[in-house]
Amino acid sequence: MTPPLPFTGPWLLAPMEGVTEACFRDAVLSRHAPEGLGGAFTEFVRVRERAIPVESLAERLGPRRFPQPVGLQLMGSDPGPLAASVDAAIRAGAPLVDLNFGCPSPKHFGACAGSALLAWPERVEALVRACVTAADGRVPVTAKIRSGVEDDRRLEELARAAEAGGASMLTVHCRTRDEGYRDCADWGRIARAVAAVRIPVCGNGSIRRHGDLARMRSETGCAWAMVGRAALSNPWIFSDVAAGPADGARFLLDYAALMQERSGFGAVRTLFRLRQLLGCMASGGVLARAGEPPAEADRRRKLQAEDLAPVLAWLEERACAPVAAAQPV
Ligand SMILES: Cc1cc2nc3c(=O)[nH]c(=O)nc-3n(C[C@H](O)[C@H](O)[C@H](O)COP(=O)(O)O)c2cc1C
Repeated sequence: MTPPLPFTGPWLLAPMEGVTEACFRDAVLSRHAPEGLGGAFTEFVRVRERAIPVESLAERLGPRRFPQPVGLQLMGSDPGPLAASVDAAIRAGAPLVDLNFGCPSPKHFGACAGSALLAWPERVEALVRACVTAADGRVPVTAKIRSGVEDDRRLEELARAAEAGGASMLTVHCRTRDEGYRDCADWGRIARAVAAVRIPVCGNGSIRRHGDLARMRSETGCAWAMVGRAALSNPWIFSDVAAGPADGARFLLDYAALMQERSGFGAVRTLFRLRQLLGCMASGGVLARAGEPPAEADRRRKLQAEDLAPVLAWLEERACAPVAAAQPV
């Protein structure tokens, strides 16, 4: 008997390649009660001809530090190595394995992985079944799809394929592959998937603020709601917290410290990641002090900085400074 889904709350942090490695996940998880943010996922691990070794999957998961589970996401198109990687993931300690059928990248699409598989619901079903069989009731296996490749006509068929294969939960990113990351997120597609299957559905796509989380659940009937990009611009989105510039700066400092202490990211990689988030958080309003043009200009200079130390010093100064009320100019 497969254990129930281990999530501790209704909101989930989406898997995001190049972002949601263990340090970022921990910086987010540490800021939320498990009753709200109920779980997270690793970035996808691409499986090709051979199973992924247990050690490298354990590294992707990192040690468990919070009550929320972190699902390990795999992406592949060959049932043999994919199923063997599910077994390795469980031996690495994954409390849940998620299968990626949504990646739009041409590199993987061309190799018939990720969203390319959405053209073949029968292959989605066979892959899920192979992975569920490999899991052998030890952990739940879940699937994450987009609404289709070019259009959403086969959405119900895809949802039923994942269910028939034995998935314990289906995440629906409501865009098609061709829609990329466009703004036009049609939550009606999530409701269609909910109506098509009996397994719980996790809705995903264009949640922008905290209130959207509950709204997606009430409008679509999905059991969980997953946030991707908005968690980069506002890591507090899973709670109804109005974070200010000092909180944003402290988040980035904590994140930088985790990357350097724990994961041995060098200064260049740490700086790259910080700049990536600095850009997102400022655009989300967390770091920007509205009506403070000199600081904004300063931030822009930091985005182009080539050395880590001055950026850390600038963040430290902002983290310690009392937060003045925003003064629109
Ligand atoms: C930078 C980036 C990396 C992503 N990497 C993954 C991934 O590894 N696995 C996956 O299933 N989806 C991935 N996605 C898709 C997100 O999980 C999510 O489905 C998508 O961003 C839509 O949600 P949003 O509108 O809340 O951002 C990625 C998205 C972005 C922006």
